[in-house]
Amino acid sequence: MNKISVTFYVNGKKEVLEVTPKERLLDTLRDQLKLKSVKEGCDVGECGACTVILNGQAVHSCLVLTAQLDGDEVYTTESLEKDGLLDPLQQAFIDHQAVQCGFCTPGILMSAKALLNKNPNPTREEIKTAIEGNLCRCTGYEQIIQAIESVSEKKLSSR
Ligand code: FES
Ligand code: FES
Repeated sequence: MNKISVTFYVNGKKEVLEVTPKERLLDTLRDQLKLKSVKEGCDVGECGACTVILNGQAVHSCLVLTAQLDGDEVYTTESLEKDGLLDPLQQAFIDHQAVQCGFCTPGILMSAKALLNKNPNPTREEIKTAIEGNLCRCTGYEQIIQAIESVSEKKLSSR
């Protein structure tokens, strides 16, 4: 099958890649770029395990064709840690015991990060809406919501 050259940015780095017309962003990130935080779950846009941030929006990367990208910006969970330090959101997930098996965690982190980037003080309802496309079979969600709430600007400044 003929390949297509695409140029886009992943975690701030320019990538020029050859992809097949039907290659999904999920596969490009995992297989070509070895970004294994991006998990493959349902493959049909229902579980959220593959969530990444694309141009500021949380999207299911199993539903995006890489060939559609042209200069777009993609961020995965690998972008969160800086200089060996976890992002406060990652630390909050640990502190609130919001991680059990961890399969859903990178996707939920990206959904939460997209929300907090746009809205640093989300309400509980806004947090629930932001992560409604992410399924977690282990935690029951309460600790996840509490972790996200704990890094809102208001909560951090009241410590
Ligand atoms: S693998 Fe993409 S939403 Fe489930
Ligand atoms: S921690 Fe296991 S699916 Fe969420």
